[in-house]
Amino acid sequence: MNLKDLYIDFFVSKGHKQIPSAPVVPENDNTVLFNTAGMQPITPYLKGKPHPYGKRLCDYQKCIRTNDLDSIGDSYHHTFFEMLGNWSLGDYFKKEAITWSFEFLTKVLNIPVNRLAVTIFAGNEIAPKDIEAKEIWMSLGIPENRIAETKEDNWWPNLELPGLCGPDSEMFYFRSSDEIPEKFDPEDERWVEIWNDVFMQYNHNEDGSMQLLQNKNVDTGMGVERVTAILEGVNDNYLSSIWKDIIDLICKISNLPYEGNEKSMRIIADHIRTSVFISADYSSIKPSNVGQGYILRRLIRRAIRHAKSLNIDISSDWDSKIACAIMDKYENYYSEIKENRNVVLEVLKNEKEKFNRTLEKGLREFEKITRDNSDIDAQNAFKLYDTYGFPIELTIELASERNLKVDEEGFKEKFKKHQELSRTASAGQFKGGLGGNGEIEIKYHTATHLLNAALKQVVGSDVHQKGSNITTERLRFDFSCDHKLSEEEKLKTEELVNKWINEKLDVTVKEMNKEDAIKSGAECMFIEKYPDVVTVYSIGNISHELCGGPHVKNTSELGKFKIKKEEASSAGVRRIKAVLE
Ligand code: ALA
Repeated sequence: MNLKDLYIDFFVSKGHKQIPSAPVVPENDNTVLFNTAGMQPITPYLKGKPHPYGKRLCDYQKCIRTNDLDSIGDSYHHTFFEMLGNWSLGDYFKKEAITWSFEFLTKVLNIPVNRLAVTIFAGNEIAPKDIEAKEIWMSLGIPENRIAETKEDNWWPNLELPGLCGPDSEMFYFRSSDEIPEKFDPEDERWVEIWNDVFMQYNHNEDGSMQLLQNKNVDTGMGVERVTAILEGVNDNYLSSIWKDIIDLICKISNLPYEGNEKSMRIIADHIRTSVFISADYSSIKPSNVGQGYILRRLIRRAIRHAKSLNIDISSDWDSKIACAIMDKYENYYSEIKENRNVVLEVLKNEKEKFNRTLEKGLREFEKITRDNSDIDAQNAFKLYDTYGFPIELTIELASERNLKVDEEGFKEKFKKHQELSRTASAGQFKGGLGGNGEIEIKYHTATHLLNAALKQVVGSDVHQKGSNITTERLRFDFSCDHKLSEEEKLKTEELVNKWINEKLDVTVKEMNKEDAIKSGAECMFIEKYPDVVTVYSIGNISHELCGGPHVKNTSELGKFKIKKEEASSAGVRRIKAVLE
């Protein structure tokens, strides 16, 4: 039996009800992106709300911590982990909590008492020294020299943070084949923390004062990954039974040994597992540029980048193989994994396809930018983000591998400006065919207006826009026209657009009343879709269109315009695909 099952069985036998793990995205708390500890979803009940399952609870809770993403790659950090916990909501207290902890460690996990040590709270102005906890441990057989006392480390979460808190008692395991020292020193790294019993009796108010809770609660937390590795006698969590077969699979896919490639393999294993849990969550998170979606995007993209560094063919199904192996391990514990298998695979596939399109080019661009070993300025960092989909953290990681710096502050400013722009653009306005708002897309957007104006001059004033679609690769423009364009018409249209580009025309924007805008002759596609006050973009005096933007400031930014294809779209509608070179 594995640790999770042993733990739950044990506490159920002590009168606890097993509660299901809460989703990774907190349900009633928008102060954090993800659940970071087992007790987090239990907070209202620790504060006194009656729990429908009663006063004794236990569970394994999915937790995600992404604040130290950079540490992933070492032997013991994980972005996702499971935390075992048992709770007393104003029911049992120190004696039972400590006694059961001791019993579980020594009788169920069969840890020799000689390998155990504990810490207790030393006392401060808020609460006295926890003599009671000390006496209970001693009565169970932990010798006094294996009990250490601290002030700061035995207050959970810490003395500064507001919220639920209290003194705690931590349990340590001697993880070395060295002779075990008689006296326990919590600073000695051979002693590793395995479990924490918090005697949660206070609420730390925002004004700094401590308020006694209605109930004396117990909150405990044990990290599944860490304790599993310890029990199995491995010093690298990724070599425990939780990870071993996933790492083996990555070795097989990459045809490389773990040794020498640990960092990338651990990152791939960790990030795909976390991506599985985020995308399987009932909150339906999808990769995006904000909040949880951005974390998901970063995790997937970083895993892809590291897979590429192991020479894995990233367009193959390597990621779904790994995800499936992970889901096989967890589906009996979490219903959402079983139910949302296809959702997970779809999320991974879509994000991979999106990133793969630009990754290669982006890496080449990165090489170009750093060719002279130069640091990465804000402009380039933003370009990598905007055009090639490199999360800033990825650029920073690539740069740091070469001891180069990235102007993060400058990037953030650019990013903010860009967001404001997009917000203005989408604030109640019809966005036309503008897909993303990247630098390239913005250029194509302005080129689309020029093309519209040019077609009117070359083909006829009854040409009207019927549709538009923009990607980073090209623009597509559908317009009313009853005939196939002649070579001459195409050439003339192209020449006219390029002429306007060369004339360096300013692009200006004006807010206008909708009716006035139409009267002034501004172009628009579906008048009913526009709000009463509209923005009209003008390019020199050759084009005026109702449009949400954004656009370039001057046509000189566009480069050379080229029509790639002209074809029928539907009856009376032609379609042009064009690029900027
Ligand atoms: N809430 C305590 C912890 O996370 C048990 O360590």
